Amino acid sequence: MSRTDGPAPLAPGELARRLAAFPRAGLGTFPTPLERWPRLGAQLGLGERLLAKREDLSGLAFGGNKVRQLDLLLGDALARGADTIVHGGALQSNYCRMLSAACARLGLACQLVLSRAYDQPDDQGNVLLDLLAGATVHTLEEPLGPAYEAAKARLAERLRAQGRRPYLITYPRSETLGTVAFAEAALETLAQCDDPAGPTGGRRPALLVTAAVGSAQAGYLLGSRALGWPLRVRGIAPLGAEYPVAETIAAAARAAAELLDLPSSLVARGDVDSSAAHVGGGYAVPTPEGLAAIRRVARSEGVFLDPVYTGKAMAALIADAEAGTLAPDGEQVVFLHTGGNVALFAYAPALLADLRAADGELLRAL
Ligand SMILES: Cc1ncc(COP(=O)(O)O)c(C=O)c1O
Repeated sequence: MSRTDGPAPLAPGELARRLAAFPRAGLGTFPTPLERWPRLGAQLGLGERLLAKREDLSGLAFGGNKVRQLDLLLGDALARGADTIVHGGALQSNYCRMLSAACARLGLACQLVLSRAYDQPDDQGNVLLDLLAGATVHTLEEPLGPAYEAAKARLAERLRAQGRRPYLITYPRSETLGTVAFAEAALETLAQCDDPAGPTGGRRPALLVTAAVGSAQAGYLLGSRALGWPLRVRGIAPLGAEYPVAETIAAAARAAAELLDLPSSLVARGDVDSSAAHVGGGYAVPTPEGLAAIRRVARSEGVFLDPVYTGKAMAALIADAEAGTLAPDGEQVVFLHTGGNVALFAYAPALLADLRAADGELLRAL
């Protein structure tokens, strides 16, 4: 749907100028590739119209969507004179893995508070890389939520009392700067789409599908609206419907609009298309459809997704394509690959069970 009643679109150069005002930590490799996925596209009846934006190739510590966000967040931390970063998540947090590596590169101490509440191994995947990169890892049993956030804040206070200069990555500032980072991703993607020699042939896709709880969806919405690109952004939440994901995204877009001197009305709550229909048993619980989507993308495009975020987002894309509702008017569709594939190693039992169900015997003695 194109908007005729909104503010005049911003020239890309003007948005780039506003974005350049934010301090950066100099992390990552950008632009990330925008590429066609023609084999999967053919299987899904989309032909050449399926593309992927490869944030998993953002260049730091196996990549992912947080590299772009950390570039700004740690730029902010450095500008404020921090010497220690405090953050956390689930034991298999992708964010913390990228943060651990970023801190190592920037000479910052990294203190993580990781929750054991999600039935994830503590000797594999992301947490193994946190330890390898030198992060100090504290664990607690509480799930993510107010008690966990309070524990993070107490740790930051303790470090301050010890004479450190901690920077606590926490809502809403992390979400706001993360959204600014993804407004920049929208600008970057639009330039790739507008290139007649590029993967879209110079056409602008109508739909982007992504796993999302916040910044990625908010930033793509804000950036595309600011530039006058009528992009629909379909967010597939990795959390149950009890979490106010759409409200979080709308609030993040509003706060980021203010930082970028854009009208706060650019993204309304009603513009946020967020679905919790593919979460299955809950956060970080693999679903049969998500595991099948991981297998399908690995075997059609040679690209690895993950069971917590991108596998479920791809399961949603596949279900909509098979129902004929994804892009019924022949539009191009972009799947945002937000990374997370390091977590594959932490989910080996579920992945192997899916492979055995599909293939039978896996390893054959010669
Ligand atoms: C692989 C992956 N995809 C998506 C997300 C969600 O990102 P956002 O908070 O920008 O919505 C995360 C992290 O939370 C992630 O690790």
